[in-house]
Amino acid sequence: MKKGKFIVLEGPDRCGKSTQAKLLINYLIEQGKDVLLTREPGGTDTAERIRQMVLEPGVNITPMAELFLYEASRAQHTQEKILPALEAGKTVICERYTMSTCAYQGYGRGIDLKIIDTLNKIATLGLTPDLTLVFLMSDKYFTERGEYLFSDRLEQEDLAFRQKMRQGYLDMIQRTPNAYLVDADKHINDIQVQVRQLLNKHQI
Ligand SMILES: Nc1ncnc2c1ncn2[C@@H]1O[C@H](COP(=O)(O)OP(=O)(O)O)[C@@H](O)[C@H]1O
Ligand SMILES: [Mg+2]
Repeated sequence: MKKGKFIVLEGPDRCGKSTQAKLLINYLIEQGKDVLLTREPGGTDTAERIRQMVLEPGVNITPMAELFLYEASRAQHTQEKILPALEAGKTVICERYTMSTCAYQGYGRGIDLKIIDTLNKIATLGLTPDLTLVFLMSDKYFTERGEYLFSDRLEQEDLAFRQKMRQGYLDMIQRTPNAYLVDADKHINDIQVQVRQLLNKHQI
């Protein structure tokens, strides 16, 4: 049975998910919580191998194959790592989960959202987050914050793709229980303050 809380950090590339996840983990550890920090795609040996394949620039993968690779990674990750940690009472923080698949493969690539919802339900074994924080930033920061970074296959998509995804995230926040928009243009410390307030609000 699930005893721990499941927190998902969402949003486009470079919006600050990893930065906020590290700060949040430290905060939870200070509070004496037993925590697990993980990410998608990946999170286990098998899932990380799928991640490498799906993010490698220049690899030819059709949108539908891409969707199934993400869901395969999720199925492995959820069963092997996330569910056992939640059953052991850990607070699990995961960078990206089902909303990312809707944003990229659904709103971005145009695959029917109903298909994605169905596959998400299968891959997650019905697990849903207790809290989803969606970090959205102005597009100008995508270039600014990514200046020195290597761009993976999905980060090489253009502005129009990123705008479709952004609208997708906004739509999903409206219809997803316990999902919140976090303004990722702000200073790192101010964002973290808001993140902690939202956890408190949800007794996490
Ligand atoms: N609020 C912020 N303001 C300015 N720079 C930031 C902010 N948050 C993150 N960064 C920087 O932007 C880059 C991408 O952040 P990162 O946390 O890796 O994003 P993500 O995990 O969402 O891809 C990093 O260089 C990070 O230091
Ligand atoms: Mg990251």
